[in-house]
Amino acid sequence: MIFLEEEGIKFTVPKTVFYNPNMQFCRSISSLAVGAIGDKLDLVDAFTASGIRGIRYAKENKNVKHLTFLDIEKSAINAAKKNAKTNKVKADSKHGNISKLALESTADFLEIDPFGTPSPYLLDGFRFFNPKKTAYLSITATDVAVLCGGKTAACMKNYHSKPLNNEFTHETGLRIIIKKIAEVAAEFNMGISPLLSFSDKHYLKTVIMVKRSADLAYKSMKKLGHVSYCRKCGFRTSSQFPQQCRKCTSATDYAGPLWLGELHNLAFLKKMRKINQKRSYSEKGQIDHMLSLLENEIGLPPYYYNIHALSKLKRTGDVPKIDVIISRLRKNHKAYRTHFSNVSIKTDALYDTILEAMEWKS
Ligand SMILES: C[S@@+](CC[C@H](N)C(=O)[O-])C[C@H]1O[C@@H](n2cnc3c(N)ncnc32)[C@H](O)[C@@H]1O
Ligand SMILES: [Zn+2]
Repeated sequence: MIFLEEEGIKFTVPKTVFYNPNMQFCRSISSLAVGAIGDKLDLVDAFTASGIRGIRYAKENKNVKHLTFLDIEKSAINAAKKNAKTNKVKADSKHGNISKLALESTADFLEIDPFGTPSPYLLDGFRFFNPKKTAYLSITATDVAVLCGGKTAACMKNYHSKPLNNEFTHETGLRIIIKKIAEVAAEFNMGISPLLSFSDKHYLKTVIMVKRSADLAYKSMKKLGHVSYCRKCGFRTSSQFPQQCRKCTSATDYAGPLWLGELHNLAFLKKMRKINQKRSYSEKGQIDHMLSLLENEIGLPPYYYNIHALSKLKRTGDVPKIDVIISRLRKNHKAYRTHFSNVSIKTDALYDTILEAMEWKS
């Protein structure tokens, strides 16, 4: 048995139950998202383990009206119940496989935090939302090597999309998960609206609002497409279908189908930042920094430019400082740092303009 404390919650974790202290940041930022939703929530913390996530969500947010733990392991359910009691949090619990319990459960907010891919649980997840008109899905994926890398076969198998092993692979990986969510949502006549999405350490996270409407479901499907990338010259673009390089006319590599819509909602992120200011999380500063980077990503193309990778492809010699490149681009364009990588830029400038700002000489 291990005795632990996370953001003021004291709890114990038996040896057979999972707990990862490195996910504290993820739990804190997700708890802010729960608070920013504002509506009263019937929240199911599926994949409960020690219960720390659900307990924090309920203890930190007044709008959580009802909490249910759900886990396939009896030892996890017992630990979560004990930890809830210690922290004076009321919770119901369900012991069993989410696939079995989905048909007899409902939720406004469902947390899906399995080991590895969330993909096999999406269909079950959407069953929790019947007959809700609006609901919230919070998903964590730790199969980053599959989504963001060279494991094409595994990604095609689990997500029905081709990944792209290149300098902006973390964004395409995140967009591939959201595509899969949009597809499953559409089968339930629901449209999706990502509120918060990010890549951090060894995981990808997204919190999505879903609304029941055949029209919205179709609108979401129309936001799926591909990102094309020229390995020869570094050109990239997004479109419904993969495209040839418009710069050197080579055949491109591509990722997709993936989500080409927004990854976040600006008003939602602002609300989260406001709530964060009132909390005393140990990672308050890092959370605010992350949220500010996410805010700036809204409205920009679904990929970024890693200046070191680009420089390796296009020129020799020193690369100008990232802030210098950004300020040059900002004369006529939007240009920001991105949370995906601290040596990368998100911008609406065209490729040639970026190369010019990097002082590339052909
Ligand atoms: C990664 S841990 C969850 C961590 C937890 N959410 C946290 O923040 O500390 C995954 C948990 O899901 C449970 N689990 C795995 N497969 C499941 C299934 N099919 N249905 C329900 N629970 C499952 C495991 O027993 C384990 O406790
Ligand atoms: Zn090219």
